[in-house]
Amino acid sequence: MPTATFHNSDQLAAAAQPFEALQPILLRHHRSPDSLIEILNQAQQFYGYLSVELLRHVARSLALPDSQVFGTATFYHLFRFQPPARHSCVVCTGTACEVNGAAQLVAALEGALRISLGARRSDGFVSLGAVRCLGTCSAAPVLVIDGVVMKHQSAASALATVRELAP
Ligand code: FES
Repeated sequence: MPTATFHNSDQLAAAAQPFEALQPILLRHHRSPDSLIEILNQAQQFYGYLSVELLRHVARSLALPDSQVFGTATFYHLFRFQPPARHSCVVCTGTACEVNGAAQLVAALEGALRISLGARRSDGFVSLGAVRCLGTCSAAPVLVIDGVVMKHQSAASALATVRELAP
């Protein structure tokens, strides 16, 4: 069984108090169960996603049952339960983009990335999501890769872009 080696008292204290960085957030909200969603939101911003251990820690800290914290977190789409992928591809599937070929973009990207829409690849390389209208309908179909909006996309241009993504 692997054992941890601590080189100073700070490391030992950090290991003894998991999610220590969450303490100021909990204190700011007076450990109030009424602030559960806000605390989960800030925990996700801090740690990138909500792990099972983190959800259990929040439940203990607020004196709530695990089931209530897990149930609340899974109810809202804004929460993630896996680390974010290194790259994010989001296809607009709003009406104007659908009419102009969003389905072909999705099919091409699903095939090239070997994941389904809404999924994150198991190696953490990329996620493929959808959004309903980005407000740039005149540039349909629109694809967003790593936060960059790409207008007037085709399956070929989308594939060319994802092939350039750093591993
Ligand atoms: S429908 Fe895609 S940008 Fe509006």
